[in-house]
Amino acid sequence: MLNDLAEILLTKEEIEKKVAELGEKISEDYKDKNLLLVGILKGCVVFMSDLMKHITIPARIDFMSVSSYGAGVKSSGVVKIIKDLDNPIQGYDVLIVEDILDSGLTLHYIIDLLKSRNPNSIRICTLLDKPYSRKVEVKTDYCGFEIPDKFVIGYGLDYAEKYRNLPFVGVLKPEIYEK
Ligand code: IMP
Ligand code: MG
Repeated sequence: MLNDLAEILLTKEEIEKKVAELGEKISEDYKDKNLLLVGILKGCVVFMSDLMKHITIPARIDFMSVSSYGAGVKSSGVVKIIKDLDNPIQGYDVLIVEDILDSGLTLHYIIDLLKSRNPNSIRICTLLDKPYSRKVEVKTDYCGFEIPDKFVIGYGLDYAEKYRNLPFVGVLKPEIYEK
C-alpha cells in the first residue's frame, strides 16, 4: 500500500491532536444542546470513532450512507442514498461528521434533505476541506485541516474502496488512478 503514496500529508500524531481539539470544542459548544452525531459512511468511520471519544457530553450517533463517486476521483453530482438514518432527527442538534468536503455536492444534498426533517440545528464537522474545489457553497463549522486540491487517502478515505485503514492521510500517486 505504501508504494502507492506520493507523500504523507498529515501524520497520525497531527491528526490525533487536531481530533482531540475538535472534540473539546464540540463538547463546549453543545453542552446545553441535544447532540446527535450523523456520520456519513463509509469515509467517516475512523474520524468519527476517534472524535466521539473526545466528546465529553452525552451524544447520540446515527449513520447515513450515500454514494456520489462510483470508483472515480471526482464527484458525479448525483447523490444516491444507500442507507438512511435509523431514527427521526426532530428535536436534535445534528452535527454531520464527514471525512472531506470537496465539491460540496454531497453535503449540499444531505443538508437539504435533513433540514426538511426539522432538527433543532444542523452543523458540519469535516476532518478535511478542499476549499478551492467547491461547486456549490457549503461551509464547515468544525474543520480539521484545509488541504490542497489533491486526491488523498487513508484515515477512512478511500480510492476504489482501498486504503481506508491507513492511520494517516496521504496523497495517492496520480498513476494509480490514471491507469
Ligand atoms: P463532494 O461531494 O465533492 O464534496 O465529495 C465528498 C465525498 O467525496 C467525500 O465524502 C469523499 O467520500 C469523497 N472525496 C472527495 N475528495 C476525496 C479525496 O481526495 N479522497 C478520497 N475521497 C474523496
Ligand atoms: Mg468516498
